[in-house]
Amino acid sequence: MTLSPSFQPFIKLILLTFLLGQARSKPIKGRYKAIYCIGDSLADTGNLVSYNATTTPPFPYGETYFHRSTGRFSNGRLIIDFLAQEIGLPFIPPYLGGPGRHGFKWGANFAVSGATALPVSFLQAMGITPLVPMSLDVQLGWFKKFLPSICTSTASCNNYFSESLFIISEFGVNDYDTMLLQGINKTQIQTFVPPVIKKIRKAIDDDYEPGTGCLKWANALSEYHDHLLQKEIQRARRKHSHATIAFANYYRFSSGRALIACCGGGGPYNVNMTNGCLGNTGNNGLSICRDPSSLVSWDGLHLTEAAYRVIARGLLEGPYSVPPLA
Ligand SMILES: *[C@@H]1O[C@H](CO)[C@@H](O)[C@H](O)[C@H]1NC(C)=O
Ligand SMILES: *[C@@H]1O[C@H](CO)[C@@H](O)[C@H](O)[C@H]1NC(C)=O
Ligand SMILES: *[C@@H]1O[C@H](CO)[C@@H](O)[C@H](O)[C@H]1NC(C)=O
Repeated sequence: MTLSPSFQPFIKLILLTFLLGQARSKPIKGRYKAIYCIGDSLADTGNLVSYNATTTPPFPYGETYFHRSTGRFSNGRLIIDFLAQEIGLPFIPPYLGGPGRHGFKWGANFAVSGATALPVSFLQAMGITPLVPMSLDVQLGWFKKFLPSICTSTASCNNYFSESLFIISEFGVNDYDTMLLQGINKTQIQTFVPPVIKKIRKAIDDDYEPGTGCLKWANALSEYHDHLLQKEIQRARRKHSHATIAFANYYRFSSGRALIACCGGGGPYNVNMTNGCLGNTGNNGLSICRDPSSLVSWDGLHLTEAAYRVIARGLLEGPYSVPPLA
């Protein structure tokens, strides 16, 4: 599996940034002709599974909307799926899965579960083996390789991008978590927050110009990540004043039930990494909630479809994004 125990403290701390091509005025339906996305398991709609089929998250992943496992780490749709539906586009195909029925006409999703912000070579030099060899850079590389198939001149690309939605989904959790698991202490991990943010910053610039039960210190780490990221977003807004850059923070999203997982292995939070939806060992003794739409957390790390729907709505209408997308 691509997941691990210490992900759990990060459940509330996910950050999303959105980079949009144009000022808002029209309703969201039909506003964009294509969606592109980079990120990790919060946005992966099938890339990891295409890369390595043995990592397919087993049913009940997918139970709610697709009624089968699709490679998404949730019971149903993710934020990118809700955004596509709201905009009136088909689901955006995962890049590694190939163009599918509609081709990449309406965009491509480059997000891979387990992906880090820091490059694989950088982590390896520290003696750390990332979960997957597809970091943020690799995903941007795919996008750049893909670009000539949709536009060739600067003018045509600018025109195309002005009608496209770019999603820089969450990055960072896998960097910090892999370090934790491989014995890097918290003091050291803190020093990697700035380079992680720098990577996300570069992605924003590059994309636009290509053309409770929580561990206190883990929350502090993510608040620090959040703080630096917010500063970065403000910088990006100043730099790209003609773009709409929305920042979504669902650190604030959690409520009393935020830490109880729907699909797990029992215990107070229904999260047991050696026995549960995560760290799955054959679905023995799984405790699955009856109504996933009543909970925020699907498996202790990933959110439920209901939570992603709320976030997507919050992105479109506020308050989760500043400014709202619609
Ligand atoms: C695919 O995933 C399995 C299970 O996680 C792992 O043992 C195997 O090494 C992976 N294969 C590749 C090519 O990464
Ligand atoms: C963390 O690790 C570094 C490098 O190995 C070491 O110098 C430092 O003392 C450690 N800090 C703590 C709090 O363990
Ligand atoms: C997790 O599940 C395993 C296997 O059922 C069990 O042995 C272990 O005690 C559980 N751990 C917790 C913290 O509940």
